[in-house]
Amino acid sequence: MSELITVGLGTRAYDIHVGTGMLARAGALLKPLLSKNGGKAIVPVVTDSHVADLHLAPLMDVLRQSGIEARAIVMAPGEVSKSFAGLERLSGALLDMEIDRKGLVIALGGGVIGDLTGFAAGVLKRGVAFAQIPTTLLAQVDSSVGGKTAINAAQGKNLIGMFHQPRIVIADTALLKTLPKRELLAGYAEVVKYGAMGDELFFEWLEVHGAAALAGDEAANVRAVAHSCRMKADIVARDERETGDRALLNLGHTFGHALEAATGFSDRLIHGEAVAIGMALAFQLSVKLGLCPGQDAQRFTRHLKAIGLPCTISDIAGARPSAGELIRHMAHDKKVADGKLTFILLRGLGQAFVTSDVPLEAVKEVLAA
Ligand code: NAD
Ligand code: GLY
Repeated sequence: MSELITVGLGTRAYDIHVGTGMLARAGALLKPLLSKNGGKAIVPVVTDSHVADLHLAPLMDVLRQSGIEARAIVMAPGEVSKSFAGLERLSGALLDMEIDRKGLVIALGGGVIGDLTGFAAGVLKRGVAFAQIPTTLLAQVDSSVGGKTAINAAQGKNLIGMFHQPRIVIADTALLKTLPKRELLAGYAEVVKYGAMGDELFFEWLEVHGAAALAGDEAANVRAVAHSCRMKADIVARDERETGDRALLNLGHTFGHALEAATGFSDRLIHGEAVAIGMALAFQLSVKLGLCPGQDAQRFTRHLKAIGLPCTISDIAGARPSAGELIRHMAHDKKVADGKLTFILLRGLGQAFVTSDVPLEAVKEVLAA
């Protein structure tokens, strides 16, 4: 059971392979990229210690069986590695392995490892190719596709980064079986995002099959991941540098980032949970502004609740962040153009659009409700 999606970026086009047991094919899929590159014999596999314990050995085995000599670089798990210190450690390890400009670096992990490895590969010797083997649902449906790479700065998340597209994405949905339930649900928020943003029929499909996908139904999982990747690939091919439509992928993120900042980027609220609440708030704001039917917003929230995702600010444990505090965080977000907050709002399920024309009072009311 597998699906193939191509990100149509001309000479930089690449394939996304989605399927159960896809890791077993990694050697065969990666080998042609290596010989085309003609690079050094040793291929670095960057991962984190959680993923290394669970999924590194099978990958190293299949690479060996394909005649690929690989060596692991194991980073600490979590955002701590998406830092200048993490970048220094990783680039040092890559240089020690004497990777040359024609080499290939493999990222095996969630969005943290993918973003860090992509960035390190992008700056190493002015640009080395890399491959994504995403192991979280969030990474399989979002961060491994589209070439956004970054580390965090003291001033905020993802502020030091570059566009650097991978050469291939290999998404094995079977790897999601070991993912903690909370991480799986958080990734599911990004899946729902595609339906809410641009495909009502997909949202309808998720209402019926989303729970099965989360419970480990392989066919449902492959369909959910592949459809999400197809939608993202389509947008990235149209607008790689986010000058237009790609911003739609930020549905729920203006609110979400403010909530993450207000909760100190802590375990109180992980990224996908913040995006889930952020999307529900975007629906509410759209209804308040008379843009979106109330029943679409209710239907959206009903699905989040049914699946077990948070959908209101009150669902966050601990002290509730105030509307004023959240607005201050939004003003510091990257998504501010000419002093105006940019929001992705909705005319209905599957009909998102970008706007900077939003009265601050309405935003405050939604945040205080
Ligand atoms: P993550 O990479 O931190 O992974 C979450 C946790 O799950 C970690 O502890 C990890 O070790 C563990 N893990 C990973 N795969 C596992 C598996 N199969 N089984 C068990 N445990 C596993 O987090 P994430 O949610 O994947 O990614 C979040 C990051 O992605 C953030 O830094 C965010 O900024 C970034 N992001 C980037 C983009 C992009 O377009 N580049 C898009 C969205 C998010
Ligand atoms: N995650 C949003 C984007 O890739 O543009």
